[in-house]
Amino acid sequence: MNSIISWVGGKRLLRKKILPLIPKHDIYCEVFGGAAWILFGKSANKEDWQLSKKSRYTEVYNDINGDLVNFWKYVKQHPEAFVTELNQYLVSREMFDTFTQHEPKTELERAIRFYFQLSCSYGSRSKNFCIMQGYKYMPLRNLEKVKAASERLKQVIIEKQDFEKIIARFDTPNTFFYLDPPYYTKEHLYDREDADAFTKHAELASALKNIKGKFLLSYNNDPYIRTLYQGFAIDEVEAQYTVSGSFQLQIELLIRNYK
Ligand SMILES: C[S@@+](CC[C@H](N)C(=O)[O-])C[C@H]1O[C@@H](n2cnc3c(N)ncnc32)[C@H](O)[C@@H]1O
Repeated sequence: MNSIISWVGGKRLLRKKILPLIPKHDIYCEVFGGAAWILFGKSANKEDWQLSKKSRYTEVYNDINGDLVNFWKYVKQHPEAFVTELNQYLVSREMFDTFTQHEPKTELERAIRFYFQLSCSYGSRSKNFCIMQGYKYMPLRNLEKVKAASERLKQVIIEKQDFEKIIARFDTPNTFFYLDPPYYTKEHLYDREDADAFTKHAELASALKNIKGKFLLSYNNDPYIRTLYQGFAIDEVEAQYTVSGSFQLQIELLIRNYK
């Protein structure tokens, strides 16, 4: 199934190349979750993945962005309340500005504000109001869509941790980590007022060199990143992105510690 939101760096198009590379595992952990295109794209049937039928199959979604994590938790637990509330709002620049100026007081308000700003902004950056011609307003006004995501997330553990903590917590020989960190030199795309931009590329590499489980990492094709992961399997793949309405092709890296 598809994710229900657009997210900068989302792996909507690259997932076709990533999904066939996922090995069997008992714990699936998406460390830099974002819109979770890989989690939503992979089969929800645990028998397709489990190493042993007796294992307790576990899926984990993690991201450091508190608004994003609150959104997923809300959708998971209260899909009806989310859709009912969202349908109260007109899509307008005035409403966008009102959301920008007012701090939400409840988890529901926070989830609605997050989604409203994401879906009505230029390039899904949540900053400047922008409605494109022909754009479908707010797909999440549709209860069926939100309920399907809620159902998919039912057994998924949702965490808001720094990557180092989540890797340490879920690492076992039977864990598979999918990691899609902010790309090197593109970290500013995830800037938030309440957090520093991601700079820990070297720390991520050293954490991954010491894990017991398997990992697959997607990254931009940069010499510094290639140096950090020397000795691992590195595949070059062609990735397509939409930038300001037009498609662009670029080479990206899929780095793995297994064959
Ligand atoms: C490239 S995006 C992930 C996109 C995702 N794979 C998708 O398909 O939508 C990178 C994510 O890493 C998150 N992030 C940044 N620093 C982090 C950290 N220290 N620990 C965990 N997540 C972090 C950002 O909030 C952002 O959502």
